[in-house]
Formats: sequence, C-alpha cells, structure tokens
Amino acid sequence: MGKNSFLEPLEINNIILPNRIVFPAFQANYATSEGFVTERLLKMYGKIASGGSGLVIAGGMAVSDDGTPNTNAIKINDDRQIPGLKDLFSVIKKNGSVAGAQLMHAGRQTVSIMTGHPVVAASAIPCPVMKEMPLELDNRGIKRIQDDFVNASARAKESGADLIELHGAFGYLIGGFLSPFSNKRRDEYGKDSTLFFTEIIERVKREVGNMPVSCRISGDEFVEGGLTIDQTRKIAPRLVEAGADLISVGAGTYASMKHMVPTKDMGEGVHVYLAKAIRDVVDVPVICSDNIRSIGFADKIISEKRADLVAICRPQVADPFFVKKSINNQPYKECLDCGKCLYFLRGEKSVSCTQNSEL
Ligand SMILES: Cc1cc2nc3c(=O)[nH]c(=O)nc-3n(C[C@H](O)[C@H](O)[C@H](O)COP(=O)(O)O)c2cc1C
Repeated sequence: MGKNSFLEPLEINNIILPNRIVFPAFQANYATSEGFVTERLLKMYGKIASGGSGLVIAGGMAVSDDGTPNTNAIKINDDRQIPGLKDLFSVIKKNGSVAGAQLMHAGRQTVSIMTGHPVVAASAIPCPVMKEMPLELDNRGIKRIQDDFVNASARAKESGADLIELHGAFGYLIGGFLSPFSNKRRDEYGKDSTLFFTEIIERVKREVGNMPVSCRISGDEFVEGGLTIDQTRKIAPRLVEAGADLISVGAGTYASMKHMVPTKDMGEGVHVYLAKAIRDVVDVPVICSDNIRSIGFADKIISEKRADLVAICRPQVADPFFVKKSINNQPYKECLDCGKCLYFLRGEKSVSCTQNSEL
C-alpha cells in the first residue's frame, strides 16, 4: 500500500475529498472582537489549504454571543458575517481543499465577563477550570441555541462551505449535554443525554440537505464520572441515525486538557484506538486525531483501517506545507511541542508558533 492509502479520495454525499488528511478546527483567535473574518485568517487558511490537506475545517465558529469561547473567535451568528465567511471558504477551495465549518457553543467553558452574557450549560455545575457557575438552560434556552446551530449552518452553506462540523467534543455545550460529568438534568434532555445533539443534527440536516455533516466527539473524556469509550460507542451510532455523515473522534475536556491537545510524550497517535473503537460500531467514515506527526503514520492508520481520515493540526500550523513536503520527501519544520500555540493557557491573545513566524 505504501503512501497510496492516504492519497485515496473519499466520497461523502455530494463531495469528494481529494485525500485522507484533514486540517481540523483550530481556534486561533485571529478574528475581530466581533467575530468577523480578518486578513490574517485568510492568509493562514490559504496557506494551509495550499499545503495539501484534502479537508480544511475552519473554526470553531461560535453560533451565538453567549457561546463564544474566546475574545477573537470567528462568529457565525449574524448575516453581516457572511461576506467574510465567503472569502474564508473561497480561499480554502481556491487553494485545493474541501472547506468545512465547525460550529460550536462553548457552554460552561467560557466566562461571562468576556461574552457579555450569562454562561449557560446543561446543568448548573461549573467547569472545574473556568469556575463560573452556569445557568441551567430551560426548554426555551435549549430551543434558542438549537435554532442558533440551524441558522449558523444555513449561513455556512450560503457562504460556500462544503461541509459542516458540529462540535460535540471537549466539554463545550453539546459535549456537556452528552456527559454524565456535566449533565444532571431530570428532564428528557437528562434522561436521554444524546437528545440535545440528535435534535440539532436532525434539524441541521433538514436545513442543509445533502451537505455532509461531521460530528466531533470526545471518545473518552478522561475525567472521573465523565464519558468513557463504552458510552461513546453507544452515542456515536445514534448520531449517525440522526444524520451524521462523519464522526470525528478526539478526547478530553477542559478538566483533562492534556487529552484535548496531547503532548508528544503521551505517544504517537495516542487516541487513535478511540477512533477505531467508534469506527467498529458505525457505518460512516471516522476521523481520528491527536499526535499524528508523520504522513507515514497517517498512512498506516488508513491502510490498517483504524480510521478513514486523519486530522493533523499542530504539524500543519508549524509548517503549512507539511503534507506536500512529506509527499515530496522534502524537509519540513516540525512542531516542537512547545505549547506556544496554547495561547489561552499562557495569557496570550492569540496563537503563535515557534516554527512559523508568518502566522
Ligand atoms: C490553539 C488550538 C485551538 C484549537 N481549537 C479547536 C477548535 O476550535 N475546535 C476543535 O474541535 N479542536 C480544536 N483544537 C484541537 C485540534 O483540532 C486537534 O484536535 C489537537 O490539536 C490535536 O491534534 P494534533 O496533535 O494534530 O495537534 C485546537 C487545538 C489548538 C492547539
């Protein structure tokens, strides 16, 4: 098989991914304070798309003001954002990749002083890291945020995105509903913790038609009382039943941050086994991620059918031409695992990279 596996195109609904490498959502905090797309974002995504990934998922993009994760995250909650989003998806497509849009609501993993709105969540339990007591969403609040996801997906489609990803990973609002760690509700959304997500998927699918919808989940949250792989293996088929065309498997929450963005010492492809375990129970393609730092390893994952697509994030931030250079056996700048991109942990305003001074 050699390098051929990851170069095999993959057809999903109406689109063809030219290869199996994905640049996953990467919230760089480069938008304006109102969430508009900037020249800096266009430059970053243009370069990454020209670097050879088959699919580039832009975002995460906040579907509402109260769901904004950081000061300068991209927002997709107002039609005024559409012209900038059109430029963003167009620069990705013009440079040869399929353009995805990740839609998110931060839930309890944000702070009201930054969003200007109360923090909301499945239950009134603070995130152990952000520490702010959230308001438990009532039925009206739930419907309002579900509407926000649907309206955001319509904007993504109108702006030219080829694929939508719904962010159900990492303990944000959707992930918070899925998890017994953060959802203690006694109503229908607690008795069936997948319901909040499946209702969104069904409605988004009705809105965007044949456009593929990916659902990102944490295969394991690695927190006591949180989601385990046994549970997510039951959740994933329900997401597919609701209409998910792809499942993307990451890991962790803010309370287990090292799993969200694992360091090299945690091992190459540290969470690929989670993707494989999910792949075994669904009949749609699965994206794996986390510490996949060479194309050779990505190819092995694909050829061994442990996942259908491989997300490679920081190595492509360090060198946007990582994929093409790897294919051509050219040297590339390796991600040094220095943690500089984790601006929010370092009190910095936005992403920077020791290896990539052009960001
Ligand atoms: C600065 C930064 C921002 C991120 N933002 C998002 C995001 O908005 N949505 C998301 O699903 N993942 C996000 N991630 C996680 C990445 O998509 C990816 O899963 C993670 O970096 C592990 O992959 P890697 O080992 O290839 O870097 C972010 C990661 C970093 C470093």
